[in-house]
Amino acid sequence: MDRHRTLRLSLLAAIGGAACSASPPASSGAGEGAVVAIPTSPASATAEPPPDGEPEPAKPKRGWVSEKNGNVHRASRVTCDATIDIAACAGTERHQSCKTDADCTEHPHGKCTSGIGQVGTYCGCTYSCESDDDCGAGKACVCKGTGALRARNSVCAEASCNTDADCGGSTCGLSAYHNGCYEQVTLACRTKEDTCKSDADCGAATTRGSACVAIGAKGATPTWQCAGMSCVIGRPLVVEGEARAARPRARADWRAPLVFDTTHLCADAREAIAAHHAAIAAMEHASIASFARFSLQLLALGAPAELLAEAQNAARDEVEHARIEYAIASRIGGRIIGPDKLPEATARLATDVVSFVESLVEEGCVGETLGAAEGQEVARSVKDEGLGAALAQIAEDEARHAALAWKTLQWALDAFGPEARDAAARAFERARAMHEKDPPAGPVENEEFGVLGSRTLGALRRSALREVVAPCLRQLGLVAWS
Ligand SMILES: [Fe+2]
Ligand SMILES: [Fe+2]
Repeated sequence: MDRHRTLRLSLLAAIGGAACSASPPASSGAGEGAVVAIPTSPASATAEPPPDGEPEPAKPKRGWVSEKNGNVHRASRVTCDATIDIAACAGTERHQSCKTDADCTEHPHGKCTSGIGQVGTYCGCTYSCESDDDCGAGKACVCKGTGALRARNSVCAEASCNTDADCGGSTCGLSAYHNGCYEQVTLACRTKEDTCKSDADCGAATTRGSACVAIGAKGATPTWQCAGMSCVIGRPLVVEGEARAARPRARADWRAPLVFDTTHLCADAREAIAAHHAAIAAMEHASIASFARFSLQLLALGAPAELLAEAQNAARDEVEHARIEYAIASRIGGRIIGPDKLPEATARLATDVVSFVESLVEEGCVGETLGAAEGQEVARSVKDEGLGAALAQIAEDEARHAALAWKTLQWALDAFGPEARDAAARAFERARAMHEKDPPAGPVENEEFGVLGSRTLGALRRSALREVVAPCLRQLGLVAWS
């Protein structure tokens, strides 16, 4: 089944090649002009990266060890500070699953803490740890303040190794990574199969929050690879390498009039699905800023009027997407959810050709194309007719935004020549590497309400890369991936 046919044809039409198919042309159909060689796989681009680690030190290392490249590994077990630097439940929060620390007995070192989630203020149990013994089999205690860990307490993490000694000459690395929705913390050996060694290999300074992290399906040995925001549909607002979005706030003026039945959802699923859609809503809201900034970049670089007009229209679409997603989150969560302020909207803007093309490729040509494919799948999988129609509208708009990105790339390649082509080639390869494996699994999977599972999402993204992105690359005269 050629499920991406419509999307592929619409994007090819945008760049003047509607008659193309998903397969490469029999003869060289690349047309005139320079052809950029894009490596067909990370393995063929360079020699495989060796297992991570500095040369063996003269003195034995202990505890958590930070390398110069920012990597952190665990040389030996250590005792962590188990205090939790989060305010205690005040009793005034909207949702309270605990009232005092005495209610938090499921694991050691429990505290009833106050927080603001995507669905409003709440009290919930937070658990810390002092040692691996507090965490149980297959887990390790990662001390607060270690490496990139953002949590304000020591946390029990999934661990396929406990110390470097478990890794046969390699190191037992800490992977702490925020995928756009939540922080994912694991310990895993560096291996010969890894496709990155540190965040620097993932263009962390310029891409959508990409980091070198350990990823593996349940039961499989994790490998280290670049990963970006895995729960984002559409164009993110990236400032200093991180996707930014507004915090949630109770306000009713960002809700589309959308009604659908949620009565059969249990409380736990309801909270998790509402949080997922609230995170998506915040990203859609941030996309408004992203397109406004994109318009300014187009003006600064002298783009044609047609691209400017479409960028302005896309920003208006994103207002509607945010309203739809806040309505879905509010409906499922059973309370009003909207966006707070977004001060990052006016952050300093890069207007050099390389930065512009790299972010255009990663956030637009790849990000919005995959977002459109994902949106179509989400719209198909939901059961409620009204909800499906609203999500189908988002998917249709995202396909148009993807077409705008490809048209803009075509213009940039013509206008700026080799500098733009080289930047595009690097960015496409990095984006492909990011999607070679499935994204990290989220806390909930519910296709009926638009939350796809990690495997479904990974397979969908790879097929869209193969069947939509690759033909568009060929159409632009860039040597495509096989
Ligand atoms: Fe979009
Ligand atoms: Fe959108």
